[in-house]
Parts: sequence; structure tokens; C-alpha cells
Amino acid sequence: MKRCVTAVVGCKWGDEGKGKIASLVTKDSQFVIRATGGSNAGHTVIYNGKKLALHLVPGGITYPNKIGIIGPGTVIDPKVLLDEITLLKNSGVTDIEERLKISGRAHVVFPWHKNLDELHEKVKENPIGTTKRGIGPTYSDKATRKGVRIYDLLLPVDELEKKIREDVFLHNQLFLANNMEECVVDSKEFATIFSEYGKLLKPYVTDILPILMDAVSNNNGIVIEGAQAYRLDNDDGEYPDVTSSHPVASGCLLGASLPPQSLKIVIGVDKAYNTRVGNGPFPTELPSSIDKNGNLITGKTMLEGDVIRELGHEYGATTGRPRRCGWMDAVMLRNAKYACGVDVLCINHLDTLGEIGRKLGYIKICVDYYYMGKVIHYYPDDTNLTHQIPEPIYVTIEGGWKIDKSMRDFFSLPESAKEFIRIVEKASEIPVKFVGIGPANDDIIEIF
Ligand code: GDP
Ligand code: IMO
Ligand code: MG
Repeated sequence: MKRCVTAVVGCKWGDEGKGKIASLVTKDSQFVIRATGGSNAGHTVIYNGKKLALHLVPGGITYPNKIGIIGPGTVIDPKVLLDEITLLKNSGVTDIEERLKISGRAHVVFPWHKNLDELHEKVKENPIGTTKRGIGPTYSDKATRKGVRIYDLLLPVDELEKKIREDVFLHNQLFLANNMEECVVDSKEFATIFSEYGKLLKPYVTDILPILMDAVSNNNGIVIEGAQAYRLDNDDGEYPDVTSSHPVASGCLLGASLPPQSLKIVIGVDKAYNTRVGNGPFPTELPSSIDKNGNLITGKTMLEGDVIRELGHEYGATTGRPRRCGWMDAVMLRNAKYACGVDVLCINHLDTLGEIGRKLGYIKICVDYYYMGKVIHYYPDDTNLTHQIPEPIYVTIEGGWKIDKSMRDFFSLPESAKEFIRIVEKASEIPVKFVGIGPANDDIIEIF
């Protein structure tokens, strides 16, 4: 067995630019895998000069001859997947039938999962701000062992109906009790619809284990394109403001059916400033014109957070929601080093941070926290007990910088941008290996 797997994982709350760097490193590999989550992810890749926001198919499939896999740890909305396949074909990506493999063990997201997602959010005093893509309810059905898998869509329709009937028995009672009669599921109707999806997906559905067994034995490069991020991990993040899967590196291996011995390196991805969509703690968040429901308040003067959002175009690739914005939190990266096994960092949006600094006149980096009367160097996990959010201790850089695309190595970067990278490395204890200087896959400087 060879160590041939590169895991690309988000270090904060998602949208760090994982799609871009995962696609870039796929150039030197043969396989690229989505292992966790579902269409709550929105990964932007630039293909033939066009922006593609992919939710389920790994972005590296846009490179010819690469094999894309959607692993057993994912939850798949068949309609979203079929639309995405059409989008890729219409954008000029070829041979998808031969190059996309879907694990039959992945679970299916049905419309009632999205209705349940909405209902759960509605009854919560403090909603999570989910993407409403049905992710939590689908993983929940999987955990209670009544979920429907992609393989089940290929069964005769009466067998599929039986599985759907078992899945929705309790859900239907819940819908009735909440005056949501329109959501009550007719298992026959849905078995017919999803059986048709099954027929369309059949050419892609397979047992991925033999493919990966060969790949790992033959030392073929494998990239895992992580979705969501470390701080959204169901165990490691700020529960309950998390997702329902395990986006950390070990969770990605599990979700891809890959053994720990195959892991070569973990690339942790972050932005030079930080963002979060949905609710939950965000120590370095800056004031901005977003209300508590995540909506923009228009007509207000630009606050610091608004400056970052506008310069970084920080609106969700999946939901279009305005993202909450704040300074780089390098302390949380230290947590990521240990809990997520991050070996090296890719810091995207160095270009944008330079512009933010030019506009505001300063840039801040959180290098320590002040918490419960002490200076600490990690994010504590008892904040819901203490009702305290760690207070950032910042290092400040005056002004900003301008990146021009001819800067192709670390030494050609502006002095203050280099200083920023060194501060992040020191506080996080992780070397920065890649810096993003623009949205295109190769707008990346590799640091040797
Ligand atoms: P992902 O979910 O981690 O793949 O990230 P998203 O695609 O949701 O969000 C990242 C956004 O930042 C996308 O709009 C990218 O095109 C953009 N982006 C990524 N890296 C850079 C960078 O280095 N500079 C700039 N200006 N934009 C970037
Ligand atoms: P990518 O892969 C940003 C967030 C939601 C919400 C919480 C739970 O593009 O980085 P869920 O729908 O998963 O039950 O929502 O997790 N969230 C993301 N935020 N990027 C993502 O994916 C996300 N996937 C989930 O906003 O706070
Ligand atoms: Mg995203």
C-alpha cells in the first residue's frame, strides 16, 4: 500500500477556496474524490474562463482523463447531480460517463429531507442557518438505519417503494402533527420518480473499492476534495452550529473508503481573512450590515465587515447568502493542525486582503486569545458553558498591498504580504505552502 492520498480540507467554516486548490493538485494525480457532505457545498472552479459552482462533482473532473469519484460518505440529491452533469457537459467537459464514478453506498437526499431541514430550523430558538439542502435529516436517517442508498434507486420499483415507505413512516406523522399535509410523502409516487433518476444515474454507479484498491497499490495519485470545513465538523466544530458530517481529514478518508495508511499529506485551506455563513461563534468577526437572520441591511454606511465582503465578493456559492466577514484567525489554525492533521497551508485571497488593507489602512491577524482571564493559544470547547467567546489578540500590519499576476514566487511578493504570511506561519505553527492570488486554478504561488 502506497501513501498516495492528498487530502484538501477547509480549516474554518467553509468557502476557503478548496475547489480551486483541489483542482490544481489533481493535475498531478489520477483520481479526485468528494468524500463527505452533499449539495450544501458550493465549490467554485474556473473552466475555460467560465466560473462553475459545483455542489457534488469534484472540480478536478474538468481536467481531461482524471477520474472523479463521489464517495460513500456523501449524501446525494439526484436532481442536483444530474443537473450538474448536464452543466459540465454543456461547458465542454468530455467523457463524463467514463470518468465519473458514484458509490452505490452514498445516501439519497429526498425532498422530505429538505422539508424536515426547514422544519427543524423553524422550531429552534437558535436556528443553525443551514443551507436547507436536507443534509442533517439525510445523515440522521442514515444513522438510524432507515436511509435509502443510491444502490436502492436501481432496485425494482416495488422494492424501492418499500424502503421509502419505511423511511417516511415517522416523518409523515411529524408532517401531519405540524399541519404540513402538503409534505406528506406518497411512497408510490416518489418510488416512480426516483426510480427514473436511478435509470439516469446507473451508468455512473459502481463499487468504488476495487478502483481505489488498485489506485492505492499502484501509487496512483488520489486527491480528496474536502467539503465544508474543520470548524463545521459534527464532533470538532462549535456544536450545534455545525454540519452533520465529518469534514476533518480522518472523516474524509472514511467517507472515501480509503485506509489511513494511504494518506500522504493534508493541505489545510484558509482565506487570508475569514468568513462564515450561518450562525455560531466567530471571534474575529467584524461589524457589518447583516441582520440576525443573515440578510443584508441596505442603505447603511459601509462597516469594516462590509468592506471585506464587497472586496472579496463574499456571497455563498450555494445559497447566495451574504457571508459574515472578519480577520484571519491563526489560533484556530493551531487547532486544525492537531485535530485535523493539517501539514501545510494554502492561504487564498492574498490579493483581496491587500486591497482590504489599502481601503481600511490596516490589516489584523489574531495570534492569541484572551479567555476567562488568561491568554490561550487554542480555541476552547467549553464556550457554551462559560457563555464567553474568546477575545482575539491581534498583530496589526499598516496599510495593504497590490498583487500583480506576474508575481510567481514568494520573494516577488510585496514586503507586507510576506510579513503577513510569516505571522500566520508563526502563530499557527504550520508552514504556508500555497498562496492564492486570484480565482483561477493556477492563480496560486507555490512556496518551496
Ligand atoms: P470552496 O467552497 O472552499 O471551494 O470555496 P467557494 O468556491 O465557495 O468560495 C471561494 C471563492 O473565492 C470563489 O468565488 C473563488 O472563485 C474565490 N477565490 C478562491 N481563491 C481566490 C483567491 O486567491 N483570490 C480571489 N480573488 N478569489 C479567490
Ligand atoms: P463548502 O464545501 C460554508 C454551513 C451552513 C450552516 C452549517 C450547517 O462550500 O465550503 P448544513 O446545510 O450543512 O446542515 O448547514 O454549515 N455550511 C457551509 N458553509 N460552506 C459550505 O460548504 C458549507 N456547508 C455547510 O451555512 O452554518
Ligand atoms: Mg463553498
